[in-house]
Amino acid sequence: MHQSIAFLSTDDLEDYFVWDNLLIQPFSQHGVHVDVISWHAIDIDWSQYDAVIVRSTWDYQEHADAFIDKLIEITKHDTVLINPLSLMQWNISKRYLQILQTQGITIIPSVFFDSVAISDIYAQFAYFDTQEIIIKPLISANSDNTFRLDHTNLMAQAGPLSNIFSTTPCVIQPFLDSVINEGEYSLFYFNGEYSHTIRKVPKSGDFRVQEEHGGELITVIPDERQLSAAAKVLAALPEKSLYARVDLIRNPRAQKDDIWQLMEVELIEPSLYFNMDEASPERFVQATLNYLA
Ligand SMILES: Nc1ncnc2c1ncn2[C@@H]1O[C@H](COP(=O)(O)OP(=O)(O)O)[C@@H](O)[C@H]1O
Ligand SMILES: [Mg+2]
Repeated sequence: MHQSIAFLSTDDLEDYFVWDNLLIQPFSQHGVHVDVISWHAIDIDWSQYDAVIVRSTWDYQEHADAFIDKLIEITKHDTVLINPLSLMQWNISKRYLQILQTQGITIIPSVFFDSVAISDIYAQFAYFDTQEIIIKPLISANSDNTFRLDHTNLMAQAGPLSNIFSTTPCVIQPFLDSVINEGEYSLFYFNGEYSHTIRKVPKSGDFRVQEEHGGELITVIPDERQLSAAAKVLAALPEKSLYARVDLIRNPRAQKDDIWQLMEVELIEPSLYFNMDEASPERFVQATLNYLA
């Protein structure tokens, strides 16, 4: 059987790590040809592809409406958009964390705002009983516009913060030191099956774990508690996904059963780290074939 798939990418990947090339050969061994196409490209006949898989669309968060419009356009063609459009629409704003929380998922303690004044941000130190907080846009990736704040640097950055967050919906959380001491864990699931796990540790002096910001990646084996926290998140998603990445962080102040807290579940995710687990490309290819069957 000959099939053809498009990986949705972007125009300029120069500043990013992309490991999707590791999928091309295993797909080809299963008779599947892959084209890589920027989501900015126009006049593409998407129906020539059995499926369009959102992969390295790294700048989507800067043009979220145009990105969703492009996804909608793709679904009007005779092809399968992966992940499903409605799942990606659900996932594009971190508001979904609030929904998951009502379903019993343990997320990092969070307060959500459509817009904030500096005084609202300031009030969160007392609310969370913490010396440091983090503020991030609800639509974000790659730690864009994400700020780690204590009382002093909040005041020092009041200008830029109020420029951004007076009009940008955001979430504020206590800053969890464990991101620095231990890192953030990403557990990958392909077509509902567990694949692999990595731990991401920021470079010295930074709090952002992404390798684009100098973070270090380590392949690890998750413990039972992490696996069960991630599986619970997967089960709570509104639809089946071809790929899901569950990002967990330790909150040492939480009760024993709630120690592993959800940072994000990524369903529009460029980084699946196929380079970190030798068998993961084949697992992904097999999962795609099963998903499409
Ligand atoms: N509550 C938190 N405590 C400590 N670090 C955080 C916290 N929230 C986010 N971070 C850091 O900021 C990064 C970006 O936040 P995240 O929620 O993953 O947004 P995105 O990846 O969509 O930009 C995380 O990978 C982590 O390094
Ligand atoms: Mg993240």
